[in-house]
Amino acid sequence: MSPAGRSRSTEPTETTNGRSHNGKKSGSTTRRPQKGHTASFVVVANRLPVDRVTNPDGSADWRSSPGGLVTALEPVLRAQGGAWIGWTGAAEEDLDPFDHDGIEIVPVALSAQEIRDYYEGFSNATLWPLYHDVVAHPEFHREWWDAYRRVNRRFAERAAEVAEPGAIVWVHDYQLQLVPEILRELRPDLKIGYFLHIPFPPTELFQQLPWRREIVEGLLGADLVGFQTTGGAQNFARLVRQRAHHPTQRGSIELPDGRRVLTRAYPISIQTREFFELASQPETAARAEQVRHDVGDPKYLFLGVDRLDYTKGIYQRLRAFGELISDGSLDPEDAAFVQVANPSRERVEEYKKLRDDIERLVGRLNGEIGVLGRPVINYMHTSYGREDMAALYRAADVMVVTPLRDGMNLVAKEYIACRQADDGALVLSEFAGAARELRQAYMINPYDINQMKARMLEAATDSPRNKARRMRILRRQVFDHDIDRWATNFLDDLNDFARSR
Ligand code: G6P
Repeated sequence: MSPAGRSRSTEPTETTNGRSHNGKKSGSTTRRPQKGHTASFVVVANRLPVDRVTNPDGSADWRSSPGGLVTALEPVLRAQGGAWIGWTGAAEEDLDPFDHDGIEIVPVALSAQEIRDYYEGFSNATLWPLYHDVVAHPEFHREWWDAYRRVNRRFAERAAEVAEPGAIVWVHDYQLQLVPEILRELRPDLKIGYFLHIPFPPTELFQQLPWRREIVEGLLGADLVGFQTTGGAQNFARLVRQRAHHPTQRGSIELPDGRRVLTRAYPISIQTREFFELASQPETAARAEQVRHDVGDPKYLFLGVDRLDYTKGIYQRLRAFGELISDGSLDPEDAAFVQVANPSRERVEEYKKLRDDIERLVGRLNGEIGVLGRPVINYMHTSYGREDMAALYRAADVMVVTPLRDGMNLVAKEYIACRQADDGALVLSEFAGAARELRQAYMINPYDINQMKARMLEAATDSPRNKARRMRILRRQVFDHDIDRWATNFLDDLNDFARSR
């Protein structure tokens, strides 16, 4: 398998991180001045839904990102001549809007300093750890906050320019929590939806934030504020009651000016059928066979796939696996672990430290308990394309998803979607949003190493009958709740609610 490169995940919610080999042709990109172009449906997200590619002749081009969010929204965006506002990922790049496959791409420029303060700083070293149970220490810096405010205003201003009268604007994720309020001030005619892809923390944690009031007011600029789980929506409603003193009733918040804001859970999902079909291809089956062979044709193949992030519990799960081997519960001749770790946020200190810690652990475990020519842990610090991911999912007997906290975790759903029969097993942390829906998984608490070991062993060695019973229910759940249904539910609610206000 060839890595898809050290690329980042484009779509807000976690999924496989592949970029190239995605089977998508580079879309036709027309560059034209877009002054005055407006759209009736506008998506605002930190990342754009396109990646830059270099043509053989050296010229630059754009290719659609393979992520689920982009694909789910593509039909709506195309049908309505929609626009997507976001950042290219590069510094100091001031590009004109351009058309890509019928979608208006509106780049927002960030300076190198803003990338440090708004993106790496406030978004990923303040909000990210704070919203994920403080599993790493959040840093509070006033200059990061200033940059966050400034950049959020820039995104909101772009949206205000691009949205036609009465348009729907859908704002995504923690990087842009102030956009709804600024946008409403600029354009009260718009229908504004907001979806948070990561957990919304309990008030006790949220209240550490020196700018807690501004964030709550920022979000309340939306008509509809969506969360991954009812727990997240309840945390938010409680915060609004306690800190902002607005009355709330069954997810409806009443503001002093009489405006109402709806808050609700919309558990995000994946393109289930597409994953299933990709995994069903004969080439994928052959690739899956090859993967098993390459890791020594083990009896039990365990798989972990994550962005290399301290919230994912990678360290804990590898330790648990290592102990299963060293205490004799699993034979190194029988069991192999493949851990794919997608490079991520590599300039942020906590991520550098995590990478060192994990690589040291993998080296130690392979040195201590591996067999010559057969490391017990195959660790890949890279990203693979969708085809390779489907093959890995098909190959794995046990998928191990052990986050300490996670908004949803789409990798768990992708694994289920790629099963071709009621087989395989999912070990899942109760602290992933997905645990609310995927109740038939082998559930674990990632802080309890002994329990994690026991469940990993059970998942590997359970009877085919038990595995089939669990997997049948899991597959039905993931097939019945795909990303199209998620997007339709959110947009229907937004339309209905905004119309009635
Ligand atoms: C998570 C976040 C997204 C983010 C993605 C990749 O899924 O919810 O908003 O885009 O991680 O992270 P990055 O920092 O590379 O955008």
